[in-house]
Amino acid sequence: MDDGSPPTLAVRRAALSTCDRGASDAGILADGALVVRDGEVRWIGKDAEVEERFDLSSTIQIDARGRLVTPGLVDAHTHLLFGDRGEREAEFAELSAGVPYVEIARRGGGILATARATRAASDEEMVSGAVARARRLLTQGVTTVEVKSGYGLSVPEELRMLRLVREVARSLAGEMTVVPTLLALHAVPPEHDGDRAAWVRKVLEELLPAAAGERLAAFCDVFVAPTAFGVDDARRVLEAGRALGLVPRLHADQLSDDGAALLAAEVGASSADHLEHVSDAGIAAMARAGVVAGLLPTSTLLARVRPFAPGRRLVDAGVVVALATNVNPGTGMSENVGLTLSLACLEGGLTPAEALVAATAGGARALRLADVGRLAPGMAADLVLWGARTPAHLCWHTAVNHALLVVKGGRVVHQAEAWSAADCVGG
Ligand code: NIG
Repeated sequence: MDDGSPPTLAVRRAALSTCDRGASDAGILADGALVVRDGEVRWIGKDAEVEERFDLSSTIQIDARGRLVTPGLVDAHTHLLFGDRGEREAEFAELSAGVPYVEIARRGGGILATARATRAASDEEMVSGAVARARRLLTQGVTTVEVKSGYGLSVPEELRMLRLVREVARSLAGEMTVVPTLLALHAVPPEHDGDRAAWVRKVLEELLPAAAGERLAAFCDVFVAPTAFGVDDARRVLEAGRALGLVPRLHADQLSDDGAALLAAEVGASSADHLEHVSDAGIAAMARAGVVAGLLPTSTLLARVRPFAPGRRLVDAGVVVALATNVNPGTGMSENVGLTLSLACLEGGLTPAEALVAATAGGARALRLADVGRLAPGMAADLVLWGARTPAHLCWHTAVNHALLVVKGGRVVHQAEAWSAADCVGG
């Protein structure tokens, strides 16, 4: 018998996927059980043993009846805080008709359109929109979400965005962990009339010190692309951010090979995300430096960028892969987690087990969070009970929500209605 107080929660008769056995193994324990106390996983083992070991008389018990139970998903790349005045939905028709994403950006649409809408939106509108989007992710199993600034494009507006991310985190306290990122270089602000250097100077001299001083962000991110910023500007900003305690991350090699994966390795970034055009040298450098590859296949689809990122080659090269939704109004207006999982397999070449591990343990690695993304004693009791028996089912039954029950810190924070999630397991 365990000598501590009784568990608060026990999950029983589960296909328990621990996601703690490396990139390609979902770590399935058949007929598994897991017990939780004080918000933490305390024990994992065979269901047949749990009653011998623990007094479950006062414990809430969840009988999974063979269903899959995984760690809560860690969505390590989103821009889900933004204002919206309808311009981006109008751009969708243009994208569909074949106008490239970069062409829309060059005409003053894209990120600049969302920046205009963001500046015009009230704090309340911004926060309520973001909380609603985050909760849509929660209902699909996401218990940790990263949220970036990057649509403010001025020092006061970027700081306002980060303070609003803090409000979003407060609104979701106990339901989801929210990780804030300062996206310091996203687009050249309209006021600077194409003068990149002027914005980079402001970022270095004003934005980074203010954001770090107020402890508004954990990460500093940059968008390296021909329409955005080059590697030299990115390096200066990421190094300055790192000196202030902000961990570097990059939007890398999304639209072309810009050498951004190499820069990620050079500056010790926690992750380089997108990577549709990453070079072999970039992959090798990321593997050597331990940079996580953030795959965002839904945005590859929705922005009509091709090819998809080489997920298979990244895994085979030994790069840790994270899988994220990249919810944003331009390249990722979808909170559909199931679609992301399926695309990672169909277009990225991952196996379903790899996609699941990337969406859990991989995301946690990208965010440098040690206590989420895996199931093991001592880890946070963030769990999802799925209406499926296997990771393969979640990927095969595409774009359908299977999250029946979501647990955050040992507490049930979402229980699906019969109509809102598919339960494909009988009995
Ligand atoms: O991650 N690539 C840059 N940033 C976002 C898109 C932002 C937008 O189009 O509004 C991304 O895809």
